[in-house]
Amino acid sequence: MRYGVGDSAAMRLYPVFAALKDRPVLVVGGGDVAARKTAALLAAGAHVQVGAPALSAPLAQWLAQGRIVHNAGAFEEYWLDDVWLVVAATDDRRINAQVAAAAQLRRIFVNVVDDAELSSFHVPAVIDRAPLLVAISSGGAAPMLARWLRVQLEVLLDHALGPLAALLQRRRGAIRQRHRNLSARRDFYERLFAGRIWQMLRAGNVNVAERELDRALVASTPTPTGSVALVGAGPGDPGLLTLRALRLLNEADVILHDRLVGAEILDLARRDAQRIAVGKQASHHHVTQERIHALMLEHARAGRRVVRLKGGDPFVFGRGGEELEFLRTHDVPYEVVPGITAALACAAYAGVPLTHRDHAQSVRLVTAHCKESLDTLDWRALAAERQTLAIYMGVAQLDTLRDRLLAHGRAATTPFALIENGTRPEQRVITGSLADLPRLQRQHGVQSPALLILGEVAALASKLAWFGQDLRELERAA
Ligand SMILES: C[S@@+](CC[C@H](N)C(=O)[O-])C[C@H]1O[C@@H](n2cnc3c(N)ncnc32)[C@H](O)[C@@H]1O
Repeated sequence: MRYGVGDSAAMRLYPVFAALKDRPVLVVGGGDVAARKTAALLAAGAHVQVGAPALSAPLAQWLAQGRIVHNAGAFEEYWLDDVWLVVAATDDRRINAQVAAAAQLRRIFVNVVDDAELSSFHVPAVIDRAPLLVAISSGGAAPMLARWLRVQLEVLLDHALGPLAALLQRRRGAIRQRHRNLSARRDFYERLFAGRIWQMLRAGNVNVAERELDRALVASTPTPTGSVALVGAGPGDPGLLTLRALRLLNEADVILHDRLVGAEILDLARRDAQRIAVGKQASHHHVTQERIHALMLEHARAGRRVVRLKGGDPFVFGRGGEELEFLRTHDVPYEVVPGITAALACAAYAGVPLTHRDHAQSVRLVTAHCKESLDTLDWRALAAERQTLAIYMGVAQLDTLRDRLLAHGRAATTPFALIENGTRPEQRVITGSLADLPRLQRQHGVQSPALLILGEVAALASKLAWFGQDLRELERAA
């Protein structure tokens, strides 16, 4: 005899979300699986009765707190009296089948955990952005596939969805009142979803978002609400993007990107987003900072969602501060998404801990952009012991760098690691002593982008390297 729904190839499940608040439900089983099911039912506000000879620790605790009722002993049919749903979660298929059969006779929906054949309802994989829930089911065909898909979607679905759904719930009446016509209402929502409300909710400003919604409700002609997100793309490996960066890339209308941002990262962005290369040396054109400012303004004022995508972190040698000041002056809404800066990423991928109890208690991020900027550095402080220097944009200045550090007392034997194309498949790590730095750079033809790490910790690269071909080169050298 078959009770479930999973036995017919042509069977399609009818998706429902059950309102269980204050309704009695039964969970049969007293172990960990039963506890997990009970937790989800309690979260939905159900009155849970747990039937089992004995209860696992969390169930016993809920019982002590008065949150569940315990039917002690072996399954009895009367446990089904008055309940709306049953979950059979014992590890004995005979008992589960008995529960399913009894529930079926009474036309009570039953789920037998991991047993589609015995179940008359399935529990989907859920992405929780309460009050918004996304449920995925494979109809019992491939539960692992549904779970895998849940993880993929989990990454893409903004956590601001929850507060947004709650806000819309609160303002639903007002929105209906203002836009009685369905298509006007749909337009209103579309404008709202394309606007700044996300940014406000992501920043935790629920009240500001609510005011924005109210303003949009009374505005007679909708004004385009473009914005700029200053986003750090990390050092190159697309796996080092933050979730927020990925989401913003998926929403962007326009992406203004630096030269250092690779194609693998741009490929992750919305297909139809307009991509504009504004790297200072992109296509050998010199795109001035003023031109970048003008582009941000032009697109944001046209109501577009602009992502200004920068290598590494936007606030580390990235002129992010200047861009924000410009946006603020021109009243363009903005947000900032940090990225993993080259120093952190290159150190990690080269096996160089930037601080170490035995060697370095501090790290300095330094730019060696040009001769003039080298003149302004505090060389005495930079030459101090027990610290790590992470030097950006220094490849063309290594002779000067070495000479000044030596002149200010840094030991000629101080180890360095010069990391070219850090975190990318073509990463190279050259190691040696400060005295030999310019010679080794020339010998290996190291080019930009490269980051120099100087200090005792750099010696650990040969021991701790784990990424890419450096490993093999270092092993050969050892
Ligand atoms: C204009 S700065 C931008 C820094 C960026 N905002 C950051 O936080 O990493 C460019 C310099 O960063 C360093 N850099 C950036 N990405 C790198 C990478 N993948 N490997 C090595 N160095 C990198 C190089 O020193 C390069 O010259």
